[in-house]
Amino acid sequence: MGLLCPSCGMNRGERLHRSAVLPLLVLLSTALCAHGCPQSCLCSSQTVKCQNQLLDAIPPSLPANTKSLFLTGNTISRIGADSFPTRLDQLTDLYLSGNELEFVDAMAFENFPNLQRLDLSNNQLQNISDRAFPADSKLQLLNLSSSFSNHSSMEMVLGFLRHGNLLQLTSLDLSNNQLLILPNGVLTNLSSLASLTLQNSSIITIYNGTLTVPPLRELDLRDNSLRSLTASMQAELSLKPLLRVWLAGNPWRCDCLFEDTLEWLRNSTQVVDMKNLTCAEPKALRQQQLLVLEPTSLKCSNEMEGVLETSYVFLGLVLALIGVIFLLVLYLNRKGIKRWMYNFRDACRDHMEGYHYRYEINSDPRLANLSINSDV
Ligand SMILES: *[C@@H]1O[C@H](CO)[C@@H](O)[C@H](O)[C@H]1NC(C)=O
Ligand SMILES: *[C@@H]1O[C@H](CO)[C@@H](O)[C@H](O)[C@H]1NC(C)=O
Ligand SMILES: *[C@@H]1O[C@H](CO)[C@@H](O)[C@H](O)[C@H]1NC(C)=O
Ligand SMILES: *[C@@H]1O[C@H](CO)[C@@H](O)[C@H](O)[C@H]1NC(C)=O
Ligand SMILES: *[C@@H]1O[C@H](CO)[C@@H](O)[C@H](O)[C@H]1NC(C)=O
Ligand SMILES: *[C@@H]1O[C@H](CO)[C@@H](O)[C@H](O)[C@H]1NC(C)=O
Ligand SMILES: *[C@@H]1O[C@H](CO)[C@@H](O)[C@H](O)[C@H]1NC(C)=O
Ligand SMILES: *[C@@H]1O[C@H](CO)[C@@H](O)[C@H](O)[C@H]1NC(C)=O
Repeated sequence: MGLLCPSCGMNRGERLHRSAVLPLLVLLSTALCAHGCPQSCLCSSQTVKCQNQLLDAIPPSLPANTKSLFLTGNTISRIGADSFPTRLDQLTDLYLSGNELEFVDAMAFENFPNLQRLDLSNNQLQNISDRAFPADSKLQLLNLSSSFSNHSSMEMVLGFLRHGNLLQLTSLDLSNNQLLILPNGVLTNLSSLASLTLQNSSIITIYNGTLTVPPLRELDLRDNSLRSLTASMQAELSLKPLLRVWLAGNPWRCDCLFEDTLEWLRNSTQVVDMKNLTCAEPKALRQQQLLVLEPTSLKCSNEMEGVLETSYVFLGLVLALIGVIFLLVLYLNRKGIKRWMYNFRDACRDHMEGYHYRYEINSDPRLANLSINSDV
């Protein structure tokens, strides 16, 4: 086929030049080619490249023997049943990265029965139909890196993974999407999935049951939002003793509640990049390697100190208020107090005078006997 279609292997400039010289041969060879190389594409052996051409649709006639088709960097926004009208039995690789894809409709890949690798990265997907792939799909690698328009489209975009015709999928790339979590059941029907990339996807936890079915061997969780590993996440990961996990770039919170996670991480044989894990909090332990972190330095003291500080301030304020009220009461009652003080002084004076008088009597030896007699 390649020999019969010399024009397939050349760019348009060459083809024009040749066609001026040998118009008949070109006409003949074009007729012999089931489908010539489309305009704005480059064809060489079984690879067709139509890249960065501002195409908003798939070129209609593609060489029937195409194995790899590159449509990256165009402005295609929707693909469906009529987007690829010719059946390409040999097509194994399809690259649609960097388009403006929003919808992938039913039967979109029906004409590619042997599709093995599909790259949908760097798009703005809102929905992928459950029936986009043929029932006996041979898809092995699916790249959905940076593919979602936003978090709210996640459920719809990932929904098609549940519906059970991607039985041969071994590798799934979901990196650079703001997933936060992986919805329940998304991996349950992916019974061949061995490698899952969730790098930089804002993951905060992995639900119990997520990893039960797929025979996962590699799980990339780098650059997410994990602060610790809950008991159920530890159990989930431990389900697969041969699983290799990457965890660097997560904001580990090295406080008193972290001891459990630290012990699990240190003991685990699954964590590949253990030496790259560092604390993000508290400030004092920032950038501290978990591998050499002393469990005794895991404290919640900072927060306690903060609490104590605020309670001291509060106590001070209350005391000051009581003091002010006391002074106010004193001031308002100043007349009463003055009167009371005069009364007190007078009472004292009377008393003192009485005492003085008795003292004088007692100290007069002439009156001593008298006073003793009078006491009796
Ligand atoms: C998304 O796709 C599913 C499955 O094909 C379909 O049921 C649903 O109506 C679609 N949602 C939108 C908003 O297009
Ligand atoms: C997916 O696509 C991104 C960007 O196009 C690329 O960096 C990444 O290596 C791809 N992933 C896989 C598993 O091929
Ligand atoms: C998410 O994207 C969809 C489609 O682009 C849009 O309708 C919706 O408003 C977006 N939601 C947010 C929160 O940005
Ligand atoms: C898995 O796929 C089968 C067949 O399509 C379907 O009946 C089943 O509900 C799917 N499982 C989940 C968890 O969606
Ligand atoms: C991480 O993902 C966000 C989108 O969720 C993207 O904007 C950002 O560039 C990604 N960071 C890296 C280092 O790829
Ligand atoms: C997780 O689920 C399994 C069963 O699916 C259950 O046995 C286990 O106790 C659960 N673990 C936690 C921590 O919830
Ligand atoms: C650490 O690993 C050993 C052997 O794998 C195991 O016996 C032990 O229970 C583990 N300790 C913890 C705390 O998980
Ligand atoms: C640890 O980080 C360094 C620097 O970022 C990197 O080169 C190395 O591959 C990482 N180690 C592992 C096991 O991922």
